[in-house]
Amino acid sequence: GKPIWLDCDPGHDDAIALLFALFAPQNCTGGSNFAAALDLLGVSVVAGNAPVAATYANAARLLTLYGAALPKHSRDFESDGVHLFCGSEVPLNKLPRSDPDIHGEDGLGGVTGLPSLGSEQVQKRVWASYDVPQQRHLLPRSSPGELLVFWHALLTHRIKKGLPKMTIVATGPLTNVALLMRGFPDLVEQGIEEVVIMGGAPPGTRGNRGPLAEFNILVDPEAADIVFNFDVPVVMAGLNVTHQAIFGRSHLERLQAHQCGDQALCDTLASVVTFFADTYKSEFGFTSGPPVHDVLAVAYVVAPELFNCPTTGAPPKRYQVQVETAAHSLAMGSTVIDFYAKTCQRPEEEWWGRGGRNAIVLEHLDVEKLWDMFFACLERCAQR
Ligand code: BDR
Ligand code: CA
Repeated sequence: GKPIWLDCDPGHDDAIALLFALFAPQNCTGGSNFAAALDLLGVSVVAGNAPVAATYANAARLLTLYGAALPKHSRDFESDGVHLFCGSEVPLNKLPRSDPDIHGEDGLGGVTGLPSLGSEQVQKRVWASYDVPQQRHLLPRSSPGELLVFWHALLTHRIKKGLPKMTIVATGPLTNVALLMRGFPDLVEQGIEEVVIMGGAPPGTRGNRGPLAEFNILVDPEAADIVFNFDVPVVMAGLNVTHQAIFGRSHLERLQAHQCGDQALCDTLASVVTFFADTYKSEFGFTSGPPVHDVLAVAYVVAPELFNCPTTGAPPKRYQVQVETAAHSLAMGSTVIDFYAKTCQRPEEEWWGRGGRNAIVLEHLDVEKLWDMFFACLERCAQR
C-alpha cells in the first residue's frame, strides 16, 4: 500500500478517518477481498477538537479498538506497526481552542465501547517507548520535539533507501505539519509526496467556526499559511466537498444491522455517528446526518477518481489558496481561493508554493462510492 502518516485530533470524524487509513481496500467497490490500499506508518495528534492529552488518549484507544499492529519499540522507525506520537498542544501563534459543542469535552463524547485507558492493550501502546514499569491509568505523552525527531529519522531513512515518498493526511489543525516544514524543509521536499488536508471553506461556502472560517484552519491559521505555501503538493478537502458526505439514517441503520459480523465494532461506530449527528443538528441544524469531513482526506489518497467531475470526468483543479491570518480580521482563518487565477504570479501548472497554484481543491464527490468504501473498511476491520 501507499505509505501514509495520519496527523489528527480525534474527534468523531477523525475516528472514522483512522478506520479508513487502516483498512481501506485497494478496490472499494469490490468488497473486502482486497489488500490494504494504504500502509499507515504512524499517527500523530494535535490540539484541536479537544486538548492534546485527550486527542492522544483517543488515538491510543481507537488504534487499540481497531487492532492496529503495535510497534515493538515506538521510537524505532524500523519497527513495523503503527507508531503513535503526541504533537503540539498549542497552535503556532494563537491560544488553543477546542470544540466541545461538536465533539464533547474529551473529543469523543457519547462514544461507547472503546477500550479504557487502563486496559492492558492501551497501556502497552502508550508505554511502548519507555523503559519504566507500566503504571495503569497513566498516560505518558511524547513531546512535539520527539515527533519531529522521529519524523526526521523516518524521512531520512526512507530517502536514503529510495523508499516511496510518504503522504501526510492531516485532519486537524496544521500545527504539527507546519513545524515539520519549518524544521526540515529539505526532508519534506524530498520525502513527502503530498499533504492532503481536511480544512478550509472556499469563498461561497459558509464557515463553521467563523463566518468564513472552517475550524481546522481557524485554530491555527499561521500553520495553514505555512502548509499551503510550502513547495509540495497540497490537496484541500474543505467544507464545500465534505458537506456532500452526510452519513444519513439509511447508513446508520445498515451499520446497526451488524452486517459486518462484529457487533461491538458496529455498536461503537454507531455511537460515534449518533453523537455527531446530534451535535450537528443542535449546532448547525443538520437534520439528515453529520458530514464525515475527515474521511474524505483519506479517501482521496485511496481513490482520487472519486473526486473527478461527474459530468466531464476531469480531475480536481489547482488554484491559489491563501489564508487570512490577521487576528483582528472578520475573515480570520478563511481560505481565500483565486478561482479565476487573478493573482497567480506564476502560470506554470507544475509549480507549487507561494505565488503559484498551490493546492488541488476538491469540489466533487462520488458519495455512493465513499459509502461502499466505508462498509468495505468495516468488513476488513471485523476480519482483523
Ligand atoms: C473539522 O473540524 C472538526 O470538527 C472535524 O474533526 C473536522 O476535522 C471540520 O471543520
Ligand atoms: Ca478533525
